[in-house]
Amino acid sequence: MKSGTDISDRRKISPADRLVGVVELPADKSIAHRSALFAAIAEGDSHIVGFPDSADPRSTLSCLRQLGVSMEETSDSLVIHGRGLDGLKQSEGDIYCGNSGTTMRLLTGILAGRSFDSTLTGDASLSKRPMGRIIDPLDQMGVQIDSHEGRPPLTIRAAASALKAITYELPVASAQVKSCVLLAGLSADGPTTVIEPQSTRDHTERMIGLAAMSMGSERHISVEGGMTMKSRLWSIPADFSAAAFFLVAGSILPESLIGLPRVGLNPTRTGLLDVLRAMGADITIDNEREIAGEPIGDLVVKHSPLTGVRIDGAIISNLIDEIPILCVAALAAEGVTSIRDAGELRHKESDRIDAMVKGLRALGASVEEFDDGLEIEGGVQLRGATVSAFHDHRIAMSMAVAGLMGSEPTTIEGASIADVSFPGFYSAIDALR
Ligand code: S3P
Repeated sequence: MKSGTDISDRRKISPADRLVGVVELPADKSIAHRSALFAAIAEGDSHIVGFPDSADPRSTLSCLRQLGVSMEETSDSLVIHGRGLDGLKQSEGDIYCGNSGTTMRLLTGILAGRSFDSTLTGDASLSKRPMGRIIDPLDQMGVQIDSHEGRPPLTIRAAASALKAITYELPVASAQVKSCVLLAGLSADGPTTVIEPQSTRDHTERMIGLAAMSMGSERHISVEGGMTMKSRLWSIPADFSAAAFFLVAGSILPESLIGLPRVGLNPTRTGLLDVLRAMGADITIDNEREIAGEPIGDLVVKHSPLTGVRIDGAIISNLIDEIPILCVAALAAEGVTSIRDAGELRHKESDRIDAMVKGLRALGASVEEFDDGLEIEGGVQLRGATVSAFHDHRIAMSMAVAGLMGSEPTTIEGASIADVSFPGFYSAIDALR
């Protein structure tokens, strides 16, 4: 992955008439991070089948190596030699999380409660992201964290004794914050409970097997201090968030037909599927089954006319990563699509509201910006343009799909940032032309 300012890091996207074929998607990024982290703090060897080459999950592996965790990769699996939570070793230098917020926030939960100091750093984008949301609950648990005004680098100070078990109601709908607190709860002196007012992706609780209780729209998830993790075999489904680009591309380009095998269909992740179907998309799911406690299925998308929708409220956290590509579906829909209650988008790898507004306007779209979302008028013929990826993988890929609909080619500057979650994305598009 090259830097976003490197002028050789550009990708020209030519307009496409239609896309036809089957796409091999990368393995799920959220599940990959967790499988590696949980394997590292388990005792004994865990085998992970299908660990992706994407830069973000690879950042988690390199952080774990810095903490003394050894691993080997064969052609069919990644073997991680778990050291147990107390077996992690102090890193000799700063631990570099790259572009990955999930790595930094979940690893902080694991490093809270260790008997050594750790410093976590990240790239330019990660260094701007808010960490107060994990520092606050960890502070209540007695963890001392030094930060740069609530942003990375983070220095997690050695704990003198067990952490204080807490009950914590999430002020922001965030699976990373939930997971961080629950992982710190493993080192606490009793049960730690996280209350989430709106459901967020539940991979952590599914994968560790934590007790969760629904109370109206609230979920209460608890972990026992001192709970140990078992080594095991993890098999990772294809990433729904990667499938999303093809669900939209296949829906908007006439005569398209795309198959997406083995896609993770965890209901806390598939809000986009519901929204696209409500817009009129033709998406079928075959062969529904489960792997490693996660529902999966084979998806087929065919072109279909779309109509604009309004989305807001609780569904937002179940499609938060898919909003940039949903904006592209909105361009092809009849009428206006309005996306609100999505202010969290401003705290992702880029300010995704600003990035999409700028990119779509450059292509000639009519877009209105709000603090917490955007409104897009569909049915406007797009032109080609040169647009920035804003050092954000999902912006790069969303603008590439938008570029397929232009009257002229579109150039994505900083295009290789797509490797963060989807190495081979541009070749996958080209193979379908
Ligand atoms: C993730 C949670 C979400 C999501 C991110 C991955 C995870 O972030 O945007 O891409 O794996 O837990 P937030 O927890 O900040 O909403």
